[in-house]
Amino acid sequence: PVLVLLGPPGAGKGTQARVLEERFGLIQLSTGDLLRAAVREGTQAGQAAKAVMEAGGLVSDDIVLSILDDRLAQPDVTRGIILDGFPRTGAQAEALDGLLARRGMAVGAAIALTVDDESMVERISGRHTCAGCGEGYHDSFKPTAAPGICDACGGTELTRRADDTAETVAARLQAYHAETAPLIDHFESRGVLLRVDAMRSIADVSMALAAIVRALK
Ligand code: AP5
Ligand code: ZN
Repeated sequence: PVLVLLGPPGAGKGTQARVLEERFGLIQLSTGDLLRAAVREGTQAGQAAKAVMEAGGLVSDDIVLSILDDRLAQPDVTRGIILDGFPRTGAQAEALDGLLARRGMAVGAAIALTVDDESMVERISGRHTCAGCGEGYHDSFKPTAAPGICDACGGTELTRRADDTAETVAARLQAYHAETAPLIDHFESRGVLLRVDAMRSIADVSMALAAIVRALK
């Protein structure tokens, strides 16, 4: 299946995509992760995206679409994909149909993770990620078992994202409400929208999502 995870920064898209990846063998396609990798590698796209991401704005559609198109060209996507953080604009949503249709795929479900803005700031400010394996943690909501050591791989380099500052989070939330929230109606009119209350615990949200994936298979 092709799943779209919609939701503001901090809603839990990445956290839940990783759970679904592990449980169902689906592939997490995060445009945020792909862009951060491009920034690290210093590619042309990465150089163009860096300042926009650090300011909390949206990277241009043509850069995002070309990065995603490259990723969709890899053979593992036939196992089924979870789009995490894409589409984010009307133009991306339209382009997605073409990108998928060319590969004989279509969106099976678009899941809106619903949360309130205030909690997002708290979630984002406590977030850290293992540089070794990418596992995500939270100071209060998902701490590592031993301080400073990744549960998943034993790595000791836990990093915070460059765009996880208070000012940038406000800009990211604003971009979400202006550009991305309208896509909820877009997917609703296609009859593929489902809403999941993401104010609950990580485990409860995972359970709700797992039920959706099972029903799609
Ligand atoms: P991206 O990487 O997509 O970031 P985002 O949308 O801001 O989302 P986050 O990764 O911050 O949050 P999340 O929903 O994944 O939450 P998480 O699971 O980590 O994009 C970054 C930037 O790249 C954008 O600003 C833009 O510049 C650019 N970009 C990316 N895609 C683009 C596109 N398509 N077009 C244009 N530009 C694009 O959870 C957050 C924290 O909360 C974690 O610590 C987690 O442990 C904790 N947590 C999760 N769930 C719960 C829960 N239920 N209860 C308590 N804590 C929880
Ligand atoms: Zn790790």
